[in-house]
Amino acid sequence: MSLLALTWDDAAGPDGRGALRLLDQTLLPLTTEYLVVERVDDLVGAIERLAVRGAPATPSAGAMGVVVAMDEAAREGWDEARLAAEVRRVRDARPTAVNLAWGVDRVAPLVPQGRDAVLAAARQLAAEDEAANRELSRLAADWLLARVDRPRLRVLTHCNAGVLATSAWGTALGVVRELHARGRLEFVYADETRPLLQGARLTAWELADEGIPHAVQVDGAAASTVLRGMVDCAVVGADRIAANGDVANKVGTLGVGLACREAGIPLLVAAPWSTVDLATPEGATIEIEERPGEEVVEFAGTRTAPFASPGYNPAFDVTPARFVAAVATERGVLEPAAGQRMDGVLTGS
Ligand code: MRU
Repeated sequence: MSLLALTWDDAAGPDGRGALRLLDQTLLPLTTEYLVVERVDDLVGAIERLAVRGAPATPSAGAMGVVVAMDEAAREGWDEARLAAEVRRVRDARPTAVNLAWGVDRVAPLVPQGRDAVLAAARQLAAEDEAANRELSRLAADWLLARVDRPRLRVLTHCNAGVLATSAWGTALGVVRELHARGRLEFVYADETRPLLQGARLTAWELADEGIPHAVQVDGAAASTVLRGMVDCAVVGADRIAANGDVANKVGTLGVGLACREAGIPLLVAAPWSTVDLATPEGATIEIEERPGEEVVEFAGTRTAPFASPGYNPAFDVTPARFVAAVATERGVLEPAAGQRMDGVLTGS
C-alpha cells in the first residue's frame, strides 16, 4: 500500500518525546518528503496548505495535534487558557470536513489526564479509521457488485480519497482496492481535480503504485465519460454528510452526480461514520471553504488568466441526496436517492 499520510514518530521532536510526522502531499508525486511537526503553527499551516488533507486523515492529525500543543505548552510555559486556544486553532483550521473537529473534540477532554492518555486516544482513533475504511470498502463492493451486471467494473473517481486522505487504506480508493483484490475491477478514470490536482498527483500515484489500470482525465471530461457509457459507477469520498443524505465533497462532485443520475448509474459515496454530521440537517447549511483565487488563475506559480481577472475558488460543493445512490459507511449502506436518511435505521448501531 502507498505511504501513510501521517504517523506519530516516537523518536522525533526537540526533546525526544516524539512528534507528528506528515508526508508533505503538496510535493507529490515527484518528491517524497516528511514534515516533523513540533509546533501548533506548523500543523495549522500544514492543514491550510493541504500538506495533510482528506477528511478522514484530519481527525488523526488533529488529535495528534493536541499532543503537539501539549508538548509546546510544556516547553513554552503556556497556561491552560492558551493551550485551549491553540487546540481550538487546530480544530478550526479548515471548515468543511466535520472530521477534523470531531477528532480534536474526541481527545481534548483527556488533556487533564496527561499527554500519554491523549496520545493513546489519538493512536486509537487512527486505528479505528483504518478498520472503518476496510469495512466500508467491503460493504460498498458488495453493494456495487449486487447491482452492476458486469464481471469487472469500470469506475470513475474524483479528487483523492485514498490512503493519503485517511489514516490508512482509503475510502473511495479503498472500494477500488477491494474490487481489484476480488478480481472485479477493470479500469479507473481519475478526475484530475482542479485546481490543486489531488486526482492527478495523488490518486494516480496510489493507483500506479499498486498497478491498478487507470487514466487521468480533466474534470471537464467526467460528464461525457459517464454519458458515453464508459463507466459503470462513480465512487467518491465525502467531507461532511448531512442528516438528509446531502454530501459535501471536493468541488466537481456535484457535476459527476448529475451525470450519473442522467445516465442511470450509481454515484456511491464511501465515508467513515465520522463524516456523518447528524447536527447538520441538510447540505445548504454546510460551510464551504473558499480558498485563494490565485490557486485558480495561476498554475505552478505562473499566471494563466489576465491580472485583471480574479479567481473564484470554492473548494467543495454539495451533491443533493437525490443524486446519491448510496452512502457506504462501516455501519452499513444507506440509499439517500431512495429516500433513506442518515439519521434513520443505522444511527442506533
Ligand atoms: O481539499 P481536500 O484535498 O482535503 O479535499 C478532499 C476531498 O474532497 C475528499 O474527497 C474527501 O475529503 C474525502 S477523503 C477520504
